[in-house]
Amino acid sequence: MDDKISRIVLAYSGGLDTSVAIAWLKEKFKAEVITVTVDVGQKENFKEIEERAYKAGASKHYLVDAKEEFVEKYIRPAIRANALYEGAYPLGTALARPLIGEKVVEIAKREGADAVAHGATSKGNDQVRFEAAFKALAPEIKIIAPIRMWGMTRKEEVEFAKKKGIPISEESKKYSIDENLWSRSIEGGPLEDPWNEPPEDAFEWTVDPRSAPDEPEYIEITFEKGVPVALNGKRMSLMEIINALNEISGKHGYGRIDHMENRIVGLKSREVYEAPAALTIINAKKDLEKLVLNKREYRVKKNLDDYWADLVYDGLWFDPIRVELDKFMEELTKNVTGDVRVKLFKGSINVVGRRSPYAIYDKAISSYDSQWFPSDEMARGFIDAWLMDSVISFRKRFL
Ligand code: ARG
Repeated sequence: MDDKISRIVLAYSGGLDTSVAIAWLKEKFKAEVITVTVDVGQKENFKEIEERAYKAGASKHYLVDAKEEFVEKYIRPAIRANALYEGAYPLGTALARPLIGEKVVEIAKREGADAVAHGATSKGNDQVRFEAAFKALAPEIKIIAPIRMWGMTRKEEVEFAKKKGIPISEESKKYSIDENLWSRSIEGGPLEDPWNEPPEDAFEWTVDPRSAPDEPEYIEITFEKGVPVALNGKRMSLMEIINALNEISGKHGYGRIDHMENRIVGLKSREVYEAPAALTIINAKKDLEKLVLNKREYRVKKNLDDYWADLVYDGLWFDPIRVELDKFMEELTKNVTGDVRVKLFKGSINVVGRRSPYAIYDKAISSYDSQWFPSDEMARGFIDAWLMDSVISFRKRFL
């Protein structure tokens, strides 16, 4: 990194690390720093964040509202793929990173910057996800990762911030939080001991199930081609449905995740999440898929769902196979249309009903009361043929 760098565009969340990074980059590279904050639905005071950027020395600040794009280009395909990393985590952070990277690159190009920067550490996944976006979309731009370079402890960062006159309110922050429309990730502090139950103060989107309503609530989610289009019979945009379900399911104490996670970098971490809408939608949709996909479609999709989640978690959003898989997922879910009735009660969810014009299930065929029954002879023939090689090989080897 010896070439002179004169203009850096920084992915700036407004937290301690990226605030300190503004002043640090300016000093270290004698360069101009432009900050970009991408609104993906995190509940933040964006005015304050902007003010902090200027106080830390940014020459220009951008706030990009990318909520709609996040829902349409990232969450929609994640829903089609029932995306849950290691069966647990709906990938909120992992899905937002490529989008934030894309916005940073757009602004870097517009501003004629010669470098982009991010505030991810060398132990985490986000460095890979950001840099994947930078490399795919602007291979010519240099990448700077200040947190990997400066070697400051949190205490030293706070001191540095004070010295530079950067206003911070983070000294007593207990957790490291990353939030967007799809999920809230909570790390650090008491959570780093996997034996500790997550304290109540880790949660913001979900109530303690003990104080959830004493009566269950039934909701009806309507899907079309694998994506929700209505709630309780009322058509809404996908973003409205997500916001509404975060509210409703969260109110019933549903949506908490406590997960021992395998990171991209070869280490494990204890991750806690809140994702009431994501889990409600994915659980309902998985159920509907069991009604409308045939056995082979269902088996193939289950495997590909896991594969899709691995890809996106692992920072491979910009791999062609992700794009190709999305097309296949669209094909596989084109009949995932129908209604799912869900019961929420004290931290739990149960699917209690499902229906679809494309149901493969047919009561007239499956019912024990129906007219159609294979004859005794048909059943014997089927069972003989079905079991033939099993019976032969088992008897040869083990009897
Ligand atoms: N483990 C999750 C992921 O890699 C979440 C990371 C959240 N980051 C944070 N600063 N809390 O996607």
